[in-house]
Amino acid sequence: MAEKNIVDELIIGNEVFVPFLTETVIQKRIVEIAEEINVDYKSKLPIIIGVLNGSFIFMSDLVKNITVQCEIDFFKLSSYGDSKISSGEVKLVKELNADIKERHVIIVEDIVDSGLSIKFIEELMARFLPASMKVVSLLMKPDSLKYKVNIDYIGFEIPNKFVIGYGLDYAQRYRNLRSIYMLKD
Ligand code: IMP
Ligand code: MG
Repeated sequence: MAEKNIVDELIIGNEVFVPFLTETVIQKRIVEIAEEINVDYKSKLPIIIGVLNGSFIFMSDLVKNITVQCEIDFFKLSSYGDSKISSGEVKLVKELNADIKERHVIIVEDIVDSGLSIKFIEELMARFLPASMKVVSLLMKPDSLKYKVNIDYIGFEIPNKFVIGYGLDYAQRYRNLRSIYMLKD
């Protein structure tokens, strides 16, 4: 039986995307990250905040592996528009509902590319005086970083190439793919 949303190669216009991180590899790493968080936040009641839209699948799989008591919230940024290159401008599109004052905050991102979004988030959150703030990102492109940011839990460091699937989009599509695909040179 063919599995859903799993393909060998994705051809989008004249661009080709090839499998990069399989569902199994992603899930195994998420369990490891969650175990670290479970130790670090033992008896701390963290508030886990996902950055929409990209983090929604990762966030879901991550929190399913978190065993400490926690609360969940989301906010939404926009920066990319529909292109593969960041606009270099970050906007807050949906605000946080929770009060994070004196709370232990864990920010969940899909990918850190230039670091601009995380820098924006760090500055924004700091204004609300949380007790602590850590960042978890499924992916990170170290060669692409332009801002000094501190990511506390990283799923995978990846080359400076465009990736899609598992929450990550190309012009809002392909977020529903179960694994991650990388643009071929
Ligand atoms: P940064 O602000 O440059 O670090 O970019 C962060 C945001 O850009 C991420 O949260 C993603 O939403 C998006 N992004 C960066 N690289 C990629 C990619 O390779 N594929 C899809 N989205 C990406
Ligand atoms: Mg994002």
